[in-house]
Amino acid sequence: MKAIRGATTLAADTPDEVRAGVKELLTAIKTKNNLHSEEIVCILLSSTADIKSLYPAKAAREAGFSDCALYSSLEPDIDGSLALCVRVMVLAETDRPVKYVYLRGARSLRKDLSEVINIALDGPAGSGKSTVSKLVAKKLDILSLDTGAMYRAAALKCLKSGVDYAEKSQVERVIDHIDLKVEYRDGRQLTLLDGEDVSGQIRTPQISMLASYVSAYPSVRMKMVELQRKIASEVSCILDGRDIGTNVLPACPFKFFLTATPEIRAKRRYNEDRLKGSAQSYESILKDINERDEQDRNRAVAPLRCAADAVVIDTSEMTAEEVAQTICEKIQEKI
Ligand code: DC
Repeated sequence: MKAIRGATTLAADTPDEVRAGVKELLTAIKTKNNLHSEEIVCILLSSTADIKSLYPAKAAREAGFSDCALYSSLEPDIDGSLALCVRVMVLAETDRPVKYVYLRGARSLRKDLSEVINIALDGPAGSGKSTVSKLVAKKLDILSLDTGAMYRAAALKCLKSGVDYAEKSQVERVIDHIDLKVEYRDGRQLTLLDGEDVSGQIRTPQISMLASYVSAYPSVRMKMVELQRKIASEVSCILDGRDIGTNVLPACPFKFFLTATPEIRAKRRYNEDRLKGSAQSYESILKDINERDEQDRNRAVAPLRCAADAVVIDTSEMTAEEVAQTICEKIQEKI
């Protein structure tokens, strides 16, 4: 069972306005959540005290929402609250993630839920970005876009094509024709290269180094950034990477930059990799991390840099859950 929230405001207190507003709100909730009538268990409505012309529950019944329990109540008259506002909570038998619907003047009530929001999460390798990104996405019911996976796929494409990485024109030719897609299945990101799911193949130390290398080419970055901006404009998501706050979404209102010492980052990677059965030693991981930091920070185009308006979080002494919680709190403070 899920509770789906929503609200709208009316242009005037007339029966027709209440009918139109309630119908628009409930229809939007039903369509956006792909709900069948039988899945709706009950609809709880409330209205501000300035609505006197028609019960919102009656308007809901007239709009065809008549197979479930309907209830409407009057909200207290609070100073400064929205005028002519109808709020709703729809209880539905579904396991799917739900979409809240805030329309008209009520959008201002929950900007985080009613508009596409993007969160930029940057930091060096092993700073915990991808774990934190997934936790934040889950808490806010949005997608998590791992942009590093895209550069990794670009590197894999070059590897499979047998190009010489030092030859810019060869890399460019391959990347020009790359067929790269990002899809989500059960909330998990899949990276598709030429139609093949390469999510596993791109997680090797060799691809980590190659991704860092090819990501320095402007043409590679242009291609990836274009795709990232397209996804970010369509869905609410948290993007983790190196240049999200500085380059991909410079106007993004929520920017975070994670840091941790190279030793702590290497230790985390070592522990994670050991669980996956990898035999790479701590020393070799630390060496890779330092090398990648050097490459990512010193490249000419969109280097790893903290945006001036990003919130910096030193994660050295924090758990991923604590970092995710801190990010969610900072977002709520700003909304
Ligand atoms: O986050 P990751 O380790 O999966 O990223 C792999 C490489 O891709 C990283 O070393 C640098 C590059 N990258 C980038 O240049 N810009 C991004 N937004 C994300 C990753």
